[in-house]
Amino acid sequence: MSKPETGAIGDGFGRDLAVYIRAGYPIINIISSEEDRALEVIEEIRKDHTLWKQPRTLFIWTISRGFVDINGEPATKDKTILPEQALMFMAKYDQAAIFLFKDFHPYLKDGQHKNASLIVRMVRDLVGSQKNQSKTMIWVSPMLQIPQELEKEVTVLDLPLPGENEYRRILTGYIDQYKDNPRVMIDLDEEGIDGMVKACQGLTLCEAENALAKAIVSRGRLDSQDIKTILAEKEQIIRKSGILEYTATVDNFGTVGGLGNLKLWLKQRNRAFSQKARDFGLPHPRGVMLVGVPGCGKSLCAKAVAAEWQKPLLKFDLGRVFGSLVGESEERMRKALKTAEEVAPAILWIDELEKGLSGAGGSVGDGGVGARVFGNLLTWMEEKTKPVFVVATANDITSLPPELLRKGRMDEIFFVDLPTPQERAEILMIHLFRRRRDHAQFDIARVVHATEGFNGAELEEIVISAMYEAFSETGKEMTTDHLSKAASEIVPLSQSRHHDIEALRQWAKANCRPAAEQPGKTGEKSDSLTERRTRLLDL
Ligand SMILES: Nc1ncnc2c1ncn2[C@@H]1O[C@H](COP(=O)(O)OP(=O)(O)O)[C@@H](O)[C@H]1O
Ligand SMILES: [Mg+2]
Repeated sequence: MSKPETGAIGDGFGRDLAVYIRAGYPIINIISSEEDRALEVIEEIRKDHTLWKQPRTLFIWTISRGFVDINGEPATKDKTILPEQALMFMAKYDQAAIFLFKDFHPYLKDGQHKNASLIVRMVRDLVGSQKNQSKTMIWVSPMLQIPQELEKEVTVLDLPLPGENEYRRILTGYIDQYKDNPRVMIDLDEEGIDGMVKACQGLTLCEAENALAKAIVSRGRLDSQDIKTILAEKEQIIRKSGILEYTATVDNFGTVGGLGNLKLWLKQRNRAFSQKARDFGLPHPRGVMLVGVPGCGKSLCAKAVAAEWQKPLLKFDLGRVFGSLVGESEERMRKALKTAEEVAPAILWIDELEKGLSGAGGSVGDGGVGARVFGNLLTWMEEKTKPVFVVATANDITSLPPELLRKGRMDEIFFVDLPTPQERAEILMIHLFRRRRDHAQFDIARVVHATEGFNGAELEEIVISAMYEAFSETGKEMTTDHLSKAASEIVPLSQSRHHDIEALRQWAKANCRPAAEQPGKTGEKSDSLTERRTRLLDL
């Protein structure tokens, strides 16, 4: 659902910008790689007679040209190529004006520009003397990079990505342009156009244009098949963000054994993404935390949710956020979350959260970068309005900050325990089925008995090694004996880590909901074949 738009200005961005300019905010930093769109919005505001009696003069600065006007003509006879010169000119100028600086951030950064400290000082002086004057400095830059000395003076605004109407305009532009061209075949009905527009969401206008042009050039036609080309382009963007990874998945709830409570809960949440749920007054689901014993299907569930809900799965590598230089961490976190919002609705998967956090330089409680950046994540989780569903997993809760587990950030915390006998049977059947074996050929109950304390990963391992064993005895099919033998050769993790698991269980009792269906309680009423069969086995 997109909001109604006003001209080129989506989502009230233009309105906000106008308010800041009128209120005399000295420096506004617009974060966007789409300079032209930013300029378009500024131009629209500047010319709006309802905002000011007289349009403000617009000066546009680049390091290659100095100040030019909207038509690209030099805006003054003064020399303004160097940042120092431009600032001097700005200080001298005594009428209402907007000074737009493209790519100004490198000149403010020590180590990147030799005069950076001088320029920062000049900007501060300018701001000091500028109060009550109607001069606004606007920086447009693709990333947020403000020197600490200026943090208080700069207001940051994100230029939202284009709205549906803007993509539609480009697409219909292409259709008009090519419809009479015999070398290009256009085959799109209303539904096709709609699908295409939706697929474009998350791309900048320029990227969307490139993707469409690529589709036309490569196949000489434009039809609903090109949605794939566009989605591939989107994947590319997520990759380029460097921290999020677009993960393809084949797993769905059918390949997850047991965990009935969790699956049921997730099915209910899926319905809460719909417009009907919005109309009903439900908020977007926020996320779920899966805590538990390793190898019991937490990561598997994250993947299954994405497949089941048909939403892109974005794996968020926290380690890579914290691995970078000081100051960059915040920017990376911001960018990753923004990317996730741009492709929303999506699943943001933070696997093994505790490991990512330990990369934050020891601990999150040290008041340093780690704590700040993690704080940003928590705030975002609480305040986000876009449908980005967070699935976080953790094997160890002792190193997790308690703030994370507070209500309001996650919808629920589930404890994923070692599988019950019933669940072990289901998991075994799933893995047999995956390898094209009919579970009816095996005495599953016997294998279940032999695998007390085994986790899902170990059960899968049993099936695989039994197959190897059977295969090496040429000519023989795998039997229950192979499975039992494989089971006897594995020492489950739960034996060697008995104490850890017991402690985790105790903690979970007080803090989490069990992911497994509880005996005696009604969990998921599923009629999947494997589940009905395991009930028949009466384990
Ligand atoms: N409940 C389960 N149902 C089916 N397979 C499972 C289950 N739990 C674990 N497995 C198997 O073990 C593998 C590892 O599980 P994973 O989800 O990575 O565990 P965790 O993230 O809890 O440590 C899975 O890819 C899957 O093949
Ligand atoms: Mg895992």
